[in-house]
Amino acid sequence: MIIAVAQSKGGVSKSTIVMNLMYYLAKYNPVLVDTDVQQSTYQLNKIRSKKTNSFKSMAITSIPQLENIYKDSDENNLFIVDTIGADTNLTRAVLLMSDLIISPTTDRTIDVMGLMNFQSVLQDLSSKSGGTIKAHVVISNVLPNIKRFDELRDLIISTQHFNLFHSIIRQRSDIANAVGQGLSIGEYSSNSKGDNEYRLLAVEIEKLLADTYKKHI
Ligand SMILES: Nc1ncnc2c1ncn2[C@@H]1O[C@H](COP(=O)(O)OP(=O)(O)OP(=O)(O)O)[C@@H](O)[C@H]1O
Ligand SMILES: [Mg+2]
Repeated sequence: MIIAVAQSKGGVSKSTIVMNLMYYLAKYNPVLVDTDVQQSTYQLNKIRSKKTNSFKSMAITSIPQLENIYKDSDENNLFIVDTIGADTNLTRAVLLMSDLIISPTTDRTIDVMGLMNFQSVLQDLSSKSGGTIKAHVVISNVLPNIKRFDELRDLIISTQHFNLFHSIIRQRSDIANAVGQGLSIGEYSSNSKGDNEYRLLAVEIEKLLADTYKKHI
């Protein structure tokens, strides 16, 4: 199976989520696939290798390389794909091949605008492929003291191409510090608030993976 973490806007926590999901979904023995030319996650994984076992990972730059991954992908092989914060042909190919698309956004206007641009990409891909391609949005890197995101939630669920995770990942310095060392928040600060938030997100993702698996058999 392929999970893509994608959003047209840069800096919305795609790579942070990928590094963490590699840890929280470890029981699926995932492979990290970095398709971003900056190769942030691939490089972070090298930093990681100085502290602990590195994640299984590869960096790819072309659609033929992606097609090879698609061939290997089945219910026993999970690939977690980091993407560039832009609308590119490679990212579009990733989106078309994915079983689950996770799209982070903050509540900042400029990031929400990015999310809406991303919706247009999903709309365009859907009309070309004849299906309805949906992404699951996670509200991420938002200030801990904001309790409600009613307007943002309403906007997300009103659109045809988005579902919304219940889990919210808050802005926490230990999440940024962990990823800076190539670690997940669970390894860096077990039982911290960030660890608990990511655990809850992983539970939601596992349910979606189980549904996808059922569809395949
Ligand atoms: N929950 C969080 N708490 C604190 N900082 C965070 C959190 N999530 C992300 N960040 C920080 O936000 C910045 C952007 O995150 P990240 O690099 O993961 O985004 P991205 O979408 O992959 O960006 P790009 O499009 O440039 O690849 C980083 O400095 C990261 O440490
Ligand atoms: Mg990134």
